[in-house]
Amino acid sequence: MSADRSQNMNKTPEKHRTADNNMKTLSPPISGQHLRWNPFNKRFGRLGLKLSLLSMALITLLTVGSAVIVIDIMDDFLFREMVKRGSALAVSTATPAGYSLLAEDLLGLDHLVSKIEESQSDILYVAIVDPQGRLLAHSRLKEMGEIIPQPSGKLLWQQHDVSVRSGLREGKESFEFDAPIHFQGSQFGRVQLGIDATALTATKELARRQIFIVSALFLLTGTIATFFLTRIVTRPVARLSEGVARLKSGEYNDTIMAVSHDELGDLTRNFSEMATELLAQKQSLDHYVVTLNESYLATLKILSASIDARDQYTLGHSQRVSQLSQLIGRQLGMDEAELKDLEIACLLHDIGKIRVPDRILQKEGALNDEERSLMSQHPQHGADILGLAASMQRFIPAAISHHERYDGQGYPHGLKGEEIPLFAAIVSIADCFDAMTSSRPYRAGLDTSVALAEIQRCRGTQFSPKLVDLFLAAQQDSAGQGMNITVNNICT
Ligand SMILES: [Fe+2]
Repeated sequence: MSADRSQNMNKTPEKHRTADNNMKTLSPPISGQHLRWNPFNKRFGRLGLKLSLLSMALITLLTVGSAVIVIDIMDDFLFREMVKRGSALAVSTATPAGYSLLAEDLLGLDHLVSKIEESQSDILYVAIVDPQGRLLAHSRLKEMGEIIPQPSGKLLWQQHDVSVRSGLREGKESFEFDAPIHFQGSQFGRVQLGIDATALTATKELARRQIFIVSALFLLTGTIATFFLTRIVTRPVARLSEGVARLKSGEYNDTIMAVSHDELGDLTRNFSEMATELLAQKQSLDHYVVTLNESYLATLKILSASIDARDQYTLGHSQRVSQLSQLIGRQLGMDEAELKDLEIACLLHDIGKIRVPDRILQKEGALNDEERSLMSQHPQHGADILGLAASMQRFIPAAISHHERYDGQGYPHGLKGEEIPLFAAIVSIADCFDAMTSSRPYRAGLDTSVALAEIQRCRGTQFSPKLVDLFLAAQQDSAGQGMNITVNNICT
């Protein structure tokens, strides 16, 4: 059939298809058929990426923060150890130096400072000065006799009379220790001691390098652990997500396997049980829909039969029109849903006759003008009645247009050609054929061959040529089913 015809025949084809789909029952779940996890699933990828980035950010933050704290503690520890060692040397030098000063033993002082310098490789010098700053002994003899000022660099540490300042000695950064020489409450001089700062810096660099290596190993381990942890967490979530998506798309035959025994596994099992319960309820609802549709169709048949039964001569008319229309519909290649709608449309095509008085319907003679006018209003009455229910409105075209003619001479709107809805055009042929082959009190039904000839004669005037051809072809296929009737020429 043409596209235009299809649109014309039914304004809401999706509705009846939906109704038909609702009548289909669902297959029970097939055991052993499970969802496969797709590692390239976009939802999994995004979730995994988020978890990985968050975990990596936390691990990096913890690692860098820990490294900074450890380095700070290490620097402080190394400095305090150096201060402890330097101050101990300065103080331990001050006591024997005091005795040597009292004894004016300058040779002993020289020996003392030389021994102290030799005891530690990072000691730059050791000097003994008098209260005026005049050098009394120095670990390097060439400095003897010089006046050296007290260290004036930045004060780094001080405890009692011992202090440590930053300094610059022979182009090298140094820590300058200064300790007084006391004896019986009097100060005889000071001990000055310089320690090479580059040794401490080298030690710090070594410690930092080791901390960096440990941190890098920790980050690498964290990255690998994050990857596997992400897989462990996202895999069941991805399975569940895909299961929900399949359920949403109507694939009820898949079950979702719960592979873990944690909260995610419980969630997956609960979801599978819920899906099974929903499936059972849907099957039950589908069964109710089928029953409801059957009841609905039975009600329509009863209603149609009741209308026909008002006149004993039209008893079974709508049912026969329906059967004849089905022949044309099948020739047109309609599917089962369309044929079902065509059947209902035929049963309801004369529903408007409810409003036509019995005296007109059952009149045995010819109708006068007034009666014919009342009778011709039944298509509009049918449309009005069907328009009261939304689910019935799709049958209005067949009810209101089944007395239209292909040449535009019909009623109520004078539609012509392809303007006439397809269902109405089909009903028109079946309606006339049944009327011709049915007997009336005032005439006998026509023979089938005569009625078919009449249909053929009205091809292109009252009826669609294409539908007439299909109807005649269908009649040939079911030859022998004609009825013994006579009637006057109603096609003119
Ligand atoms: Fe009619």
